[in-house]
Amino acid sequence: MAIKHKTSSLLASLVAILLIAFCTGNIKNITAWTPPVEPAIILTPKPGPKPRINGTKIFGVRPGCPFLFKIPATGNKPMKYEVLNLPAGIKVDPATGVISGSIGQPGEFLTTFRVSNDLGTTERTFKIVCGNSLGLTPQMGWNSWYVWENHVTDKIMRAAADAMVTTGMIDHGYMYVNIDDCWSVKPGSKDPELNGQPRNSAGNININKRFPDMKAMTDYIHSKGLKAGTYTSPGPFTCAGHVSALGYEEQDVKQYVSWGFDFLKYDWCSYGQIAKDQSLAELQKPYILISSILRKQPRDIILNLCQYGMGKVWKWGKQVGGNSWRTAGDLGGSFEGIGTALFRDGFDVYSTDSLHLYGGPGGWNDPDYLLFGYLSNWQGQTVPTPLTPNEQYTQMSLWAIVAAPLIFSGDMTRLDEFTLNVLTNDEIIEIDQDPLGKPGYRVAKKGDLEVWKRELEDGSLAVGLFNRGEEPALVTASWSDLGLSGKLRVRDLWRQKDLGKYTIQYTEHVGRHGVVMVKISK
Ligand code: GLA
Repeated sequence: MAIKHKTSSLLASLVAILLIAFCTGNIKNITAWTPPVEPAIILTPKPGPKPRINGTKIFGVRPGCPFLFKIPATGNKPMKYEVLNLPAGIKVDPATGVISGSIGQPGEFLTTFRVSNDLGTTERTFKIVCGNSLGLTPQMGWNSWYVWENHVTDKIMRAAADAMVTTGMIDHGYMYVNIDDCWSVKPGSKDPELNGQPRNSAGNININKRFPDMKAMTDYIHSKGLKAGTYTSPGPFTCAGHVSALGYEEQDVKQYVSWGFDFLKYDWCSYGQIAKDQSLAELQKPYILISSILRKQPRDIILNLCQYGMGKVWKWGKQVGGNSWRTAGDLGGSFEGIGTALFRDGFDVYSTDSLHLYGGPGGWNDPDYLLFGYLSNWQGQTVPTPLTPNEQYTQMSLWAIVAAPLIFSGDMTRLDEFTLNVLTNDEIIEIDQDPLGKPGYRVAKKGDLEVWKRELEDGSLAVGLFNRGEEPALVTASWSDLGLSGKLRVRDLWRQKDLGKYTIQYTEHVGRHGVVMVKISK
């Protein structure tokens, strides 16, 4: 009895302590805190039925190289596509909006896209720059890594291309469908689909059995008006242990050209064993080599440097021929850590070294892929992203402000309405693709609250009000921090809604780890 009494009074005291702690707010100190479950609120109205032209307004191509560009437009289908003032050598298919051919002479060509459907016609200018520069705005597309990692197949790639069209992502400007690691043979693998000789008797790299016919696959991707990307390493093996380019760089690039690839991710991986040291000369060497080979090819291939930011790659990535360069390690290397990595690599790495000074037309800072929808949890399952809805809006907004490539890496075949909404808001995409090509940066930081701005071609500003804190908060974007003055128009870009005119500042409630993204103009 006595023991029972003692136990119950002990329990009573514990409950009392917990109650006091809870009421005084000290509960967080004695129990593990879990993030609140946020409703996945769709902020953006669906695209209207009238035609609207989206995506990039400027496109680089080299003389004589195959041109392929599908005009991205939303609205009721069928649509009729026309282009005014097309340069000689290329033509548009009026039913699909795919522009193809090749331009013989260098030059700048100011064309007009005209798209019509049963409800009307719309026009937008589109500049074609035929010269030496590719990637005049950040690349948009999909990459297989974070959902399919080492299980990627030809079938998966084709299904991703299909989904680009059926989900309408292609109509918002997404164009690259890129295989990551794991398409070549993996010598010594126990999996008979992957094992095999690294190269054939002519030295050509062998594809593993999951890809029966690379050329047929890229033809399929191209037939949808999309472009195809591939992946290799300057070392002997890729990060996942598959055969890569060392000693065969030129032969492999020629192979990619004959297969019809339009994008190459060149991932450092095992080159660490080859480089003599971490000097700039050694860090740059494999990229200088590969870009000089790429430049000689009769095909435009975007070069994505992937070496995790070593040697402050942003300072020289463009100089060695990169059209984009990864600025940090893998954003999704730890599934549970994606949120933490987003704030560390996206916000802090970028700000600490003023990365905005280095990105621009032709070469972009690449903080890694958009990690929404279904992703691999690295334990054999594909599961929903650990990013909360607010964090997803934050990633997309930040990527648009810093002019990052918009490369989604979740499952293309399992896109729910919320995920698609985050990926396809045309006013947010327009910020990312702004033709001025000036990456934005942080202008104010008060504790967890940050304001970022990006200058746009039309003289207005894109402004992100971010809350990195654990509680909702009021975030203020003040005109003095933004370098503005006077009565200015503010538009909410996620909600696609004008908010009115403001002087001095704009203040908004922002949720935990969330963002309000506005455009401020005269
Ligand atoms: C590295 C890269 C990733 C991915 C994997 C593939 O980790 O940073 O983006 O390409 O290799 O093995």
